[in-house]
Amino acid sequence: MRVAVLASGNGSNFEVIAKAFKKKQIKGELVWLFSDQPDAFVLKRAQRLGVPSCSFSPKEFPSKQAYEERLLQRLRENAVDLVVLAGYMRIIGGTLLESYPQQIVNIHPSLLPSFPGLHGIKDAFDYGVKVTGVTIHTIDAGVDTGPIIAQEAVCIEETDTLASLETKIHQVEHRLYPEVLAKITEKGPNKL
Ligand code: GRF
Repeated sequence: MRVAVLASGNGSNFEVIAKAFKKKQIKGELVWLFSDQPDAFVLKRAQRLGVPSCSFSPKEFPSKQAYEERLLQRLRENAVDLVVLAGYMRIIGGTLLESYPQQIVNIHPSLLPSFPGLHGIKDAFDYGVKVTGVTIHTIDAGVDTGPIIAQEAVCIEETDTLASLETKIHQVEHRLYPEVLAKITEKGPNKL
């Protein structure tokens, strides 16, 4: 299976995924990294790890559809079977969804359906829940609403700060995402 990662920022999840491909813990090939943010640190990680990468911004296009059509064209040129979102901070539109039905996966830093949206960790911390976690799901037309593939809980202790909770969540993400992608790439993209 040929996999592409879409990311907007730091790229720590991208890095653990790329390393898992290198160690053959995930079957198939990581063929491409795309970022919608030309200054994103994830692009430097891709360069260092030898993963072909590309970046362009939606601002360069007259519409979201035109942006996604260009992105789709690049995904097709790379013969991508599975799209992995790793901190990609945009809502996937109809153009990509229709071309990759149930073949786009995302990681979200809360136990969905609780705390969807941009600030899953902070929203859970501020609410005062005692348990939050990480969700991996396929993308549908909603925001963080697609069918859930895997979840793992993270306890919030009295002594936790927002920063320590972020660290705990990221530690779980960095183990869980490669594990789940290993299973997905074994089963095939249409059997999630
Ligand atoms: C992760 O917490 C992920 O759950 C969320 O965005 C963050 C990306 O972090 N969707 P990184 O760029 O992989 O370091």
